[in-house]
Amino acid sequence: MVCLITGSSRGLGKAVALAFGKRGHRVVVHYKDKKCEAEAVASGIRESLALKADVRDFKEVESLVEKVVEKWGRIDVLVNNAGITKEALLLKTSENDFDEVVNTNLKGPFNFIRAVIPYMIKPHNQTIKHIINISSIAGIKGKAGLSAYSASKAGLTGLTISAARELGEHNIMVNAVLPGYMLTEMGIASNEKAKELALQDSLVKQFSNPHNVADFICYLSETKEITGQVFNLDSRIL
Ligand SMILES: NC(=O)c1ccc[n+]([C@@H]2O[C@H](COP(=O)([O-])OP(=O)(O)OC[C@H]3O[C@@H](n4cnc5c(N)ncnc54)[C@H](OP(=O)(O)O)[C@@H]3O)[C@@H](O)[C@H]2O)c1
Repeated sequence: MVCLITGSSRGLGKAVALAFGKRGHRVVVHYKDKKCEAEAVASGIRESLALKADVRDFKEVESLVEKVVEKWGRIDVLVNNAGITKEALLLKTSENDFDEVVNTNLKGPFNFIRAVIPYMIKPHNQTIKHIINISSIAGIKGKAGLSAYSASKAGLTGLTISAARELGEHNIMVNAVLPGYMLTEMGIASNEKAKELALQDSLVKQFSNPHNVADFICYLSETKEITGQVFNLDSRIL
């Protein structure tokens, strides 16, 4: 399979790219700024491409997708993983910060979905394709200090379910995965109270392991009739 993982220079995306690579798939390691990190991830995968694009910019996304199709002729799996947070109470959230978070976490996945579907929809093609959007428990339960992030992830859930309804007839499965709290750069940068709360709410008193999340995503990409679902990979109860 040809697997395109957005934001795979580090964190969860890196774990997902390596997990697909380990299973012998061709992997696109996508990044925005961290070229060296992305190339290091790609060097650990037998067949890989490290490609840059700002997810907020449709033209950049479209040109990346064209490069992948030129090289490998198709895209089987898209994992919309790239994301950012900006912690601030609503009163202190600037319009720019709100736009940056929503454009990255919601418009970014829209841009990638919009760019890949012409290549995923092929007449008489019975091969199952997968789009997996990385959302968050914050998009369902909300979080004080994370309004922009929570709104973007709630929107991503709506986008997932609507896309699943439209694309099912074309054999494209669209699902959302909610990882638990992970100690990636994003998780580490959060305030101490957020980490404490995540552990408090966890029934097993543990953070989420990106490698376990990655294994679940690989499993999901091999299924043939699961679509329009939101998977909470955490012991925090929704
Ligand atoms: N960490 C958690 O606890 C947690 C929990 C639930 C859900 N999530 C979600 O899981 C996903 C991965 O999070 P993470 O913790 O692994 O984050 P991370 O370590 O901060 O990595 C973020 C990735 O996104 C890329 N990125 C950011 N803005 C981009 C843009 N405008 N265009 C292209 N790429 C961009 C970064 O690329 P560069 O390296 O090139 O900058 C990087 O590869 C996110 O969607 C996040 O919301 C995380």
